[in-house]
Amino acid sequence: MKGSIPESKIEEIRQRADIVGLISEYVALKKAGRNHVGSCPFHKEKTPSFTVNSEKQIFYCFGCGQGGNVYAFLMKINNMSFPEAVRHLAVKLGITLPRTFSDEEEKRRSGLKQELYRVNTVARDYFARQLFSDGGKNGREYLRKREIREEVVREFKLGYAPPAWRYLRDFFQRQGTALSLVEKSGLIISKEKGDYYDRFRGRLIFPIEDIQGNVVAFGGRIIGEGEPKYLNSPESPVYIKGNNLYGLSRSRDDIRKADGVIVVEGYFDFLSLWNAGIRNVVATLGTSLTTHHADLIKRYTKNVFTLFDPDQGGKKALERSISLFLGRNMHARVVVLPEGRDPDAFVRSSGRKALEDVLSAAQSAVDYYIDEMIGIKTTLEENLESLREAIPFMAQIDDPVERNLFIKRVSERLQIDQALLKKEVGKALSADEEPAASGAPRQERAAVDLVELSLIYMMVEKPTRIDQAREHRILDFFASRELRGLGQSLEALRQAHKKVSVADFIEGLDNGATKRKLLEYAFADKYTDEKISERVFVDTVMKVKARWYREKHKELKTKLIRAQERGDAELCNQLLKEKERLFNEQKAL
Ligand code: UTP
Ligand code: MN
Repeated sequence: MKGSIPESKIEEIRQRADIVGLISEYVALKKAGRNHVGSCPFHKEKTPSFTVNSEKQIFYCFGCGQGGNVYAFLMKINNMSFPEAVRHLAVKLGITLPRTFSDEEEKRRSGLKQELYRVNTVARDYFARQLFSDGGKNGREYLRKREIREEVVREFKLGYAPPAWRYLRDFFQRQGTALSLVEKSGLIISKEKGDYYDRFRGRLIFPIEDIQGNVVAFGGRIIGEGEPKYLNSPESPVYIKGNNLYGLSRSRDDIRKADGVIVVEGYFDFLSLWNAGIRNVVATLGTSLTTHHADLIKRYTKNVFTLFDPDQGGKKALERSISLFLGRNMHARVVVLPEGRDPDAFVRSSGRKALEDVLSAAQSAVDYYIDEMIGIKTTLEENLESLREAIPFMAQIDDPVERNLFIKRVSERLQIDQALLKKEVGKALSADEEPAASGAPRQERAAVDLVELSLIYMMVEKPTRIDQAREHRILDFFASRELRGLGQSLEALRQAHKKVSVADFIEGLDNGATKRKLLEYAFADKYTDEKISERVFVDTVMKVKARWYREKHKELKTKLIRAQERGDAELCNQLLKEKERLFNEQKAL
């Protein structure tokens, strides 16, 4: 992930950068004691909990748990990759990076992407030719049955893959294209002995484009009935599932003009609507809505009509898409078609006008949520139960106007005092902003072993403790494998006479509870007093060991009981000896 920028350069740049200066370009910071604080750019908050420490060159938000060094900040705020962040800073500091491999690497990678776009385009045109050749009769027939006009078929460059194993493979070979490259697109699949066969056989082909119109993948529908109904390209360097919306490259102008988008699930839903003259449409291709989808849509409009199968998605999916849109200040409406028909069937039987009527009568997603999820309950208990679920949901609606509207509706529906409900939601809101309840899921927080973690932190702060830890063989007594691994990497750094600092150390860590806790320790300046910290360190070492022995004894005891139950005298004996050995070992400490 670091590309091939030399490690030493990465460190040099980080050390020469001034984190307070850099972050000040994005966030208004005020000096507060040893730190600088400001409003977190990564989440909404009323009181500033975003903290920067120039001495340690780290930042941490006590509200949302984001934190790290200068690189982490740049990556997050500018949505950069790690090498991009390093280069960005290098340019700022006037440090020239050696012509790195990673430039080459990047060129190679973008070269590969271009080649895959080309391969896919060639394949798309090949499939399209097949559809309109003699062999494509089945495909044309099928499209006619589904009433898609030829003009639409040609516009979306639909195609047909003949029902044979090597057509596309042979076609590319005749073209002189390396089959190993074609394989990377997923169009052909390698088999033993280094040969390949076609992925799509006897299927109607739907080319999938990104917004720039590059062909990134394909979907293939079986003609008629059969399994699987659709076969799709696997992920590739140009295709990540959930990152694209079918049709957007061609519908985006209409979406902007209409200032609204109709989101459907399937290829045929999309094409039928387009066929009927409704062009502000995209299809998710059966996956649930992703943040990528929502971000893509938001570039063109804030108004979304979701035309999903109501029972298929279920409550979680609905909640998810509502919060995706509301969280982006977008307005979503839920369209439910009569008799559970899908958009394709509906528009073909009832026509464009009927669909437009349904759309204009569509309920806002918020109302739909209230109706479906809260409904009208009869007993007080049921009402309370619904409320318990609804409060955190309401608290995460970003836009205060939408949120208050939601509160008002719910209070009317459940006949509870609006002010009271507002207060409850407010409580949930501020709980979100408190350090203890924010950031990653709670379980994750609980999962870090704080005793062992504090040892790791103390070692980072004072590298001579790494030697001490070695003498005590303390890592052998760690219960957490993750933390033991961290301890081992500290030992390795120490042996290589590398400098150890919090800012460098946290760089390799995932944004999990471990990193957050380490940052919190760093900001708390927990173990600065030499004497106290020495005692804490030794105490903690003993604590970890004692706990390890306790666990071992417990384990042995269980084994012993089982062995006794089974009447396994030999094992009992062995276990008793082991117990004694452990006991003596512990006493010797
Ligand atoms: P649908 O089953 O609603 O597809 O699945 P559809 O487009 O309406 O197809 P018809 O009308 O039955 O011909 C919605 C989408 O889910 C994906 C496809 O992208 C499909 O368009 N899907 C569905 C698959 O990827 N694989 C499948 O086996 C089924
Ligand atoms: Mn369908």
